[in-house]
Amino acid sequence: MTESAIDTARPYVAALVDELTTAGAIRTPAWAEAFAAVPRHTFVPRWYEQETNDRGITVWRLQHVLHEERISRVYRDTTLVTALDPDTAERVDKDAWTGIPTSSSTLPSLMAGMLEDLAVEDGNRVLEVGTGTGYNAALLCARLGEQFVYSVDIDTNLVDAAQRRLSSIGYEPQLAPADGRKGYPTGDQFDRVIATCSVPSIPAPWVEQTRLGGAIVADVALGIEGGLVRLTLYAGQRAQGRFTATSGRFMAARGDTRTYPQRERAPYAPEAGTRPTKVTAADIRGYYPFRLLLAFHLPGAELVYHSDEATGAMSVQLQHSDGSWARVPMTGERVNTVTYGGASEIWEQVDAAWKWWNDAGRPAQDQFGYAREPDGHASVWHIPDGRRWNIGAQ
Ligand SMILES: C[S@@+](CC[C@H](N)C(=O)[O-])C[C@H]1O[C@@H](n2cnc3c(N)ncnc32)[C@H](O)[C@@H]1O
Repeated sequence: MTESAIDTARPYVAALVDELTTAGAIRTPAWAEAFAAVPRHTFVPRWYEQETNDRGITVWRLQHVLHEERISRVYRDTTLVTALDPDTAERVDKDAWTGIPTSSSTLPSLMAGMLEDLAVEDGNRVLEVGTGTGYNAALLCARLGEQFVYSVDIDTNLVDAAQRRLSSIGYEPQLAPADGRKGYPTGDQFDRVIATCSVPSIPAPWVEQTRLGGAIVADVALGIEGGLVRLTLYAGQRAQGRFTATSGRFMAARGDTRTYPQRERAPYAPEAGTRPTKVTAADIRGYYPFRLLLAFHLPGAELVYHSDEATGAMSVQLQHSDGSWARVPMTGERVNTVTYGGASEIWEQVDAAWKWWNDAGRPAQDQFGYAREPDGHASVWHIPDGRRWNIGAQ
């Protein structure tokens, strides 16, 4: 490693390690040492910060690491957006764009929590899906040694840039431009798989490429909500584990370098009526484990913010791809009337989930198990009492 990058960063790196340790994200000396050895600014020399410009438009403004003050900003516990989808990005002034982010350097506390959850041992071979900037791959190299680290990203440009940055500090892990949902292109076997982009279900190649007794840590996006799972590989290609106490979400894995596919859905059904409910918009917005439970009850449904065309009033809306929907107003957030449309009665599931969650003592996400069967079907269950939900093969 060149002395200069880590030397320049040393005080900031030390402060970040302290912050992540105090927060409980770094839990072992081995990961504290790895974080202390890698200069994040080598991997994030520029990034985009969101702001509202003078015309009232939300834009991404480019920031560069050019002097000390900017270097210090890279060592805060924040996610830094590093790439925008060229198909949606439009330049609005000298250094600001609109557009959908396609890559970022993940929140350091989330990275640390996930790496700790991965529970690597010396000599483990690890596959990372979602190379991005290469920072996480560098941390894995610092912890395990470059010969044990493999990483793929769908975007060739990102892989090339990551390779150069890793090389500049002396690491040469195995990188490949590829759709990581298909695993590592050479079909190698790994002790651990860690994904830093989300998937609707665990892809079969990850299971096939993880050795018996190995582990997968990934964000499963279940529609309304999702979460990080840590699964162990059992005989017969069954992957089973639980949602982790580390919470956080990632951008979705995509099959194309540039854009995200639009989700297909039927036109909205006409409004069918209103009725009282005990569940408010504040309940849905305020409780992450409850949203996760809703995702178990309503697999394939989505949660969106709805704006009334006439009044501009905002609601929290749950909707199915068949066009049915149900929404509760955000104004006041304590208003307990649901408005709904379409045949399926989404809100009955919401009321049932709310009752179950409260009766069960409002369990957190790590009280739920997750299993992927060899045929790709997944189920989740409440670990204390075994109550189970089949969430299909999404
Ligand atoms: C949150 S970023 C990863 C951050 C990265 N681990 C780091 O340390 O900078 C998510 C990454 O997943 C990548 N990605 C999206 N879909 C993918 C796919 N199908 N296969 C591999 N990588 C994918 C994106 O290009 C993006 O770089």
